[in-house]
Amino acid sequence: MCGIVGYTGKRTAAPVVLEGLHRLEYRGYDSAGLAVVNGGLQIFRAPGKIAVLERELGSHLPEGTTAIAHTRWATHGVPNTVNAHPHADCGGTIALVHNGIIENAGALRQALGKRGHVFRSQTDTEVLSHLIEETHTKGASLVDATAEALRQVEGTYGIAVISSREPDTIVAARHGSPLLVAIGNSENFVASDASAVLAHTRSVVYMDDGEIAEVKPTDYRIMDLATVEKEKVVTQVDWDLATIERGGHAHFMLKEIMEQSESVQNTLRGRLLEEDGTARFGGLNISNEELLKVQRIVITACGTSWHSGLIGEYMMEELARIPTEVEYASEFRYRNPIVDERTLVIGISQSGETADTLAALREAKRRGARTLGLVNVVGSTIAREVDGGIYLHAGPEIGVASTKAFTSQIVALALLTLRMGRLRALSILQGREVVRALAKLPELVTRVLAKAPEIEQLADRLIRAQNVLYLGRGYNFPVALEGALKLKEISYIHAEGYPAAEMKHGPIALIDDLMPVVFIAPKDGVHQKVLSNIEEVKARGGRVIAIVTEGDTALDKLADYRIEIPETLDLLTPVLSVVPLQLLAYYVAVRRGCNVDQPRNLAKSVTVE
Ligand code: AGP
Repeated sequence: MCGIVGYTGKRTAAPVVLEGLHRLEYRGYDSAGLAVVNGGLQIFRAPGKIAVLERELGSHLPEGTTAIAHTRWATHGVPNTVNAHPHADCGGTIALVHNGIIENAGALRQALGKRGHVFRSQTDTEVLSHLIEETHTKGASLVDATAEALRQVEGTYGIAVISSREPDTIVAARHGSPLLVAIGNSENFVASDASAVLAHTRSVVYMDDGEIAEVKPTDYRIMDLATVEKEKVVTQVDWDLATIERGGHAHFMLKEIMEQSESVQNTLRGRLLEEDGTARFGGLNISNEELLKVQRIVITACGTSWHSGLIGEYMMEELARIPTEVEYASEFRYRNPIVDERTLVIGISQSGETADTLAALREAKRRGARTLGLVNVVGSTIAREVDGGIYLHAGPEIGVASTKAFTSQIVALALLTLRMGRLRALSILQGREVVRALAKLPELVTRVLAKAPEIEQLADRLIRAQNVLYLGRGYNFPVALEGALKLKEISYIHAEGYPAAEMKHGPIALIDDLMPVVFIAPKDGVHQKVLSNIEEVKARGGRVIAIVTEGDTALDKLADYRIEIPETLDLLTPVLSVVPLQLLAYYVAVRRGCNVDQPRNLAKSVTVE
């Protein structure tokens, strides 16, 4: 989603905020801009990539030690210069950048227009600049004027505002979109996330909804919208830029796929209790007694996180014997779900900022449910709003297509299933078996990653496909969905995932020698059934790529191409079977010349509905 960076301090601000914007490019955007206070107020904006804005700026960047900058992912108004942020007031005194949606922008715009304000853009954001102008130009301080304006606003925002009347001040505020204040040495920052400021400082203060900050070079205050000051914790961010950089790989996505042995290890670290055959967590914040009262689980998420939730459903019902269902967050939040104090609602989100997932969890809390978050980004909104949670510890995931977060989500769900199962019907011996299998996973992932060259060769056979079908059963049905999502979101080839047996109820009509079919067919409880489905596809001339267990010769004559993965427990096979599908999608997309890390139309974190 939109990226925000602000700087006020002793240095020339423009280069600092531009560098910060580059660190936020991964969020996905379609225009960029910056504003600088230097006697007056200068605003520069351009559609497209930040490089276009830099070309507009030329070699002489504007002077001034206070600036804000923005990358926009259009929600209202087409991506062009007029709609790019920052947005000014009538008098050109104020510049403002915004992430979120102002839901009553229409009514506010009408009222402001009647009072003589002239609008230049089609955006919802611009109303904020004019609202602030109404009191700021009559003597109110920037922070008071902004607080007054925000009290009239409905919707979500993360904003940063500067004014030529207060040259060393940035006002920031959040409600529904992430924002932080970062503390430097005689200089301070505001940003959408820590990656924008890590080159300068690791000391950050995460803002909460309903807070407003007044930031100066050597001081900052964080208040509520009544401008009553609040005590906030300063967090030391332990990711450094080297971690975030590509690590020598061509793309962040490949780096993150290749990191999965390490990221799975990090998700497991310190949480396996072999002796007792269970798992422990530092931040679950829900006692065993409360976990025992849980009569039903609802897992809610979006996209790839929803796919891992489906695997969690199978795990919970098989091992913990707790009725579990998985809901798209966008559906859950608007239907009338049956949720009460005996329901445990688990939100899965890599970013911890997905608007639909956040809203679904808030709805669950309103109905009395206990909520858990399986989140990767420490300090993210979902992580701070749920009753308890499990951090994935997968490290920053920059590529828009989620990969290592998915495998870490599955591992976290297996750990949670273990904990809840051992409170119920799971024996200590069964628990120990799961613990041992989990402990072996990092090494098994390494063995699958070693197949990358073989999978790269195979990619050549898919780059001209128009459609691809992914089929799996049981624990690997969600993997079929995930494999299809990976291919379509980065290579733009249409792909569909289906339960293998469902193929007979329609999709089999698609099968011909132009339709590659990817089967996930490990030696698990439904292996024989999948073999029959492969026969059905071959009988219709389909080309079959099969993910098989090492040493399984049953598909030697059946599949056109085989990719072997090591054996593990059925519930853990998705951690291994998804890796070849991630690599396949990656190599196909690279060969098709697609922008792998920032696919068209997509954003890393969808913080609007
Ligand atoms: C996955 O490759 C996509 N980028 C997308 O489906 C993503 O999983 C979804 O938007 C949920 O994001 P979250 O995990 O950060 O909530």
